[in-house]
Amino acid sequence: MNKEIIPINEIPNFKSRAEEFFPIDWYKEMLHNHPVYFHEGTNTWNVFKYKDVKQVLSNYEFFSSNGPRTALFVGANKKPEKPTSLSNIVMADPPDHRKSRSLLSAAFTPRSLKNWEPRIQQIITDLVEDIQADTTVNIVEAFAAPLPGMVIADLFGVPIKDQQQFKAWVDILFQPYDKTRIEDIMQLKQQAQKEYFEYLYPIVIHKRSNLSDDIICDLIRAEVDGERFTDEEIVQATMLLLGAGVETTSHAIANTFYSMLYDDTSVYGELRNNIELVPNTVEEMLRYRFQSSRRERTVKQDNDLLGIPLKKGDTVIAWMSACNMDGDIFENSFEVDIHRSNNKKHLAFGSGPHFCLGAPLARLEMKLGLETFIKKFSRIESVEGYELEKNLTDSATGQSLTNLPIKVFK
Ligand code: HEM
Repeated sequence: MNKEIIPINEIPNFKSRAEEFFPIDWYKEMLHNHPVYFHEGTNTWNVFKYKDVKQVLSNYEFFSSNGPRTALFVGANKKPEKPTSLSNIVMADPPDHRKSRSLLSAAFTPRSLKNWEPRIQQIITDLVEDIQADTTVNIVEAFAAPLPGMVIADLFGVPIKDQQQFKAWVDILFQPYDKTRIEDIMQLKQQAQKEYFEYLYPIVIHKRSNLSDDIICDLIRAEVDGERFTDEEIVQATMLLLGAGVETTSHAIANTFYSMLYDDTSVYGELRNNIELVPNTVEEMLRYRFQSSRRERTVKQDNDLLGIPLKKGDTVIAWMSACNMDGDIFENSFEVDIHRSNNKKHLAFGSGPHFCLGAPLARLEMKLGLETFIKKFSRIESVEGYELEKNLTDSATGQSLTNLPIKVFK
């Protein structure tokens, strides 16, 4: 295995799934009483305040992405046979990071996003059309879970008929860390990675001589300083994008619906009357309801930038979701406010050189998804007796909703 996995869940020691799904009390406690906290069990420093999280994520001279440990457990985490420029993207610091980032950015230009918007809208329209008015729907199964996978498969240019198989691989590659089943999970992931590779590689080869308008073709065309991706790197790039972009976006969409049902029931009606509020609502949901954003960095040189003596090689975990509730930055930070003027400052997408490359795509999916849904249904209601604790599951993004029933009205 490439890197040592940090069992990050042992740091808060949550007593229930529901608490992990929305760790607001723990965040309050850490922000107020332990803003910089050493956790012995995992041998990690943990930071929660906005300014510290930003510093750790963006000051790569002192806090490196290239360390021996990781809090991420997505994909097969297997060392490539030979290092490629792509392996650099998540794990390298500038300047090494720049080239691979620029190559991968070719697939995420504002122009591509504009071109793809009608395709994304069509997928969303079809999913929303399938939801019948005046019924109760599990919004996770009907909408939040399938949407990002369908979008990315379409943007890769994968044949529609294969999308189910595609989804099955994705589910395996995202199985969360579980100490008791680690060997099994790693084997499953490696098998899925192998099958995925064997499936996608010929598609990449075929596309080389049949260029069209999709992510794989953008990656084939991409060139920086005379360097291009090899076919193998393109398959790896798609896997990286799946790992980074599918479950995260599903989670954000499902949690947005949860918030409209259980945090503030007036939000839906307000958006229905004023659809222009949707983009700001998306930002507020990422700030308030995206509860699993956290990343590790390795101390590159001794420093006291966090007010404690850090030594080269120490691991620091930046808790982005916690810092999004820092009262020094966000007024009434523990409340949802879709009118909040500075909520775009949230760090759910990170900060600095590794800032999420897919943020514009995730934002677009959330915006179009919400708008399309709101235009069709006049009102939504929760279902009596719904028990959150029974409708959560471990996932790569922490606790994810498996079932969120919503009554939808014409
Ligand atoms: C709500 C959805 C999403 C959230 C909350 C999210 C969050 C993040 C965060 C926090 C990082 C920074 C990691 C770090 O600093 O080490 C990141 C990086 C990244 N994300 Fe996202 N992401 C989302 C959706 C997506 C999507 C849709 C894609 C693409 C399909 C994507 C692709 C990437 C890539 C390629 C990186 C690595 C960038 C780099 O290391 O330079 N993400 N994401």
